[in-house]
Amino acid sequence: MQKKQRLELTWIGKGEKDNPKLEPRILIEDSEKSYGDKNTENILIHGDNLLALKALEQDYAGKVKCIYIDPPYNTGNAFEHYDDGLEHSEWLNLIKPRLVLLRSLLSNDGSIWISIDDQECHYLKVLCDELFGRNNFITSITWGKRVSPANDAKFFSSDHDYILVYAKNKDNWVINRLERSESNNSYYKNPDSDHRGAWNSITYTGNKTRLERPNLYYGIVNPNTNITVYPPETLTWRYSEETHLINEQNNLIYWGKDGKSSIPRLKQFLSDAKRVVPRTIWTADDVGSTQTSMTEQKKMFEAPFATPKPEILLERVLTIGTKKGDLVLDSFLGSGTTAAVAHKMGRKWIGIELGEHCHTHCIPRLQKVTDGTDQGGISKAVNWQGGGGFKYYYLAPSLLKKDKFGNWVIEEQYNADMLAAAMAKQEGFRYSPDSELYWKQGFSNEFDFIYTTTQFLTVEMLDSIYSEMKSSETLLIACKSFQDGCNKRYPNINIKKIPSMLLGRCEFGKEDYSLNILSLPEVEDSAEDDE
Ligand SMILES: C[S@@+](CC[C@H](N)C(=O)[O-])C[C@H]1O[C@@H](n2cnc3c(N)ncnc32)[C@H](O)[C@@H]1O
Repeated sequence: MQKKQRLELTWIGKGEKDNPKLEPRILIEDSEKSYGDKNTENILIHGDNLLALKALEQDYAGKVKCIYIDPPYNTGNAFEHYDDGLEHSEWLNLIKPRLVLLRSLLSNDGSIWISIDDQECHYLKVLCDELFGRNNFITSITWGKRVSPANDAKFFSSDHDYILVYAKNKDNWVINRLERSESNNSYYKNPDSDHRGAWNSITYTGNKTRLERPNLYYGIVNPNTNITVYPPETLTWRYSEETHLINEQNNLIYWGKDGKSSIPRLKQFLSDAKRVVPRTIWTADDVGSTQTSMTEQKKMFEAPFATPKPEILLERVLTIGTKKGDLVLDSFLGSGTTAAVAHKMGRKWIGIELGEHCHTHCIPRLQKVTDGTDQGGISKAVNWQGGGGFKYYYLAPSLLKKDKFGNWVIEEQYNADMLAAAMAKQEGFRYSPDSELYWKQGFSNEFDFIYTTTQFLTVEMLDSIYSEMKSSETLLIACKSFQDGCNKRYPNINIKKIPSMLLGRCEFGKEDYSLNILSLPEVEDSAEDDE
């Protein structure tokens, strides 16, 4: 039988390196770095985004309304704050599992926006078609990022970036139109001092023919010239004669500057004008340029972040993709632009950043946003006065490590609470210690619980737990060791040993999945080059 073929992008390592068995880590709050409102739902995570996204999966799958990412473009430049020169296959191997996780976090009516340039855009587009479905592709936006050309360019001055936009499910995605800008409104004037305010005129003819809609073909008298005018032979008026008379009574007919036009037009008032549909070319005038973002950075930091986006660009993205209260995620947070803008726009946010600039840039910036002392970027436009806060988390180390004999043991940094939380996560339970029954540390449903202990589990302890259980309840006990006779003593209590119960499930002890790879794979000469 012929193998079913499909259109897809392949690369070195696809299907092998791009699907790591990730450990679902727990996130640990460092309350000294958290800021502002203690009940905030905003989250800043310092760490590799692949592990961080995996850590978020249990609580946030299907909950994020809008994801914006601005990953390293793979431009081959060594930026000051991160390395950006991966060989193309390696870049795809690294971006793919992150996109898979990001997709799982998106809500059914959510969207993902990815900034990228010529270097990888077209490969990324094909990869995203595979992961999100080509039918969920919304558009690719061109952002004119440069004000003046790079005259030292060898061939062309690269003046634009792209933003690829995908919906999780195009049928469910609803776009928010944009507020009318001054330039949109500049077409509205009030030459006849109409008390209803400025107006613009639109065509009075429709595209049906006289034969198709005879009732829309009739004579109209221009009151200024007393001449009866008709639509062009191949067209009709847009409105029936009755509606036209109402339009006339309402002073809605415009006969041109001198009043003598042979075709009337309809007045349309600015006060009735709709919000505008977003267009796919975003100019620096509308959404800022790289210069805008650099100026923003210089106002905030002595050492500006090298590749920030302007706040107003993110404001445009979040206006189209979200409403107040929606959850926004950026897993390549950089200097914190997405979080700052989401915060000022009343959206909840999650930001993930691996680099040390999480501390030197994101935290101070977001503290100022919280305090209301950051009056740069979009602050004035949205009248930002401060408020809210954020919680700071980092990733727990791997739960298991190898001891000096090569045996897997529990990482000693795990205290009892961390271990209980980690085991609950590993086993798919929600960690939520009961205030009365110590063995109810987490639940998967209202009858199913988990209890983790590092103690030696005795039959006596087991009997005591069992005596507190309802007959409808089931329990998983994860312990280091247990007394003979414990196992299978009660049909509704399952006992497993740590660490053996965990082995083989995922990659333990692996800390670096990051894009910041220092030793790049060697690029082999292609066969064609040798010929
Ligand atoms: C182009 S910058 C984002 C800039 C950001 N949009 C802004 O306005 O500041 C890309 C960021 O992704 C971060 N990054 C790269 N690999 C990462 C990883 N594996 N996990 C988390 N962040 C990562 C880099 O440290 C860098 O800060």
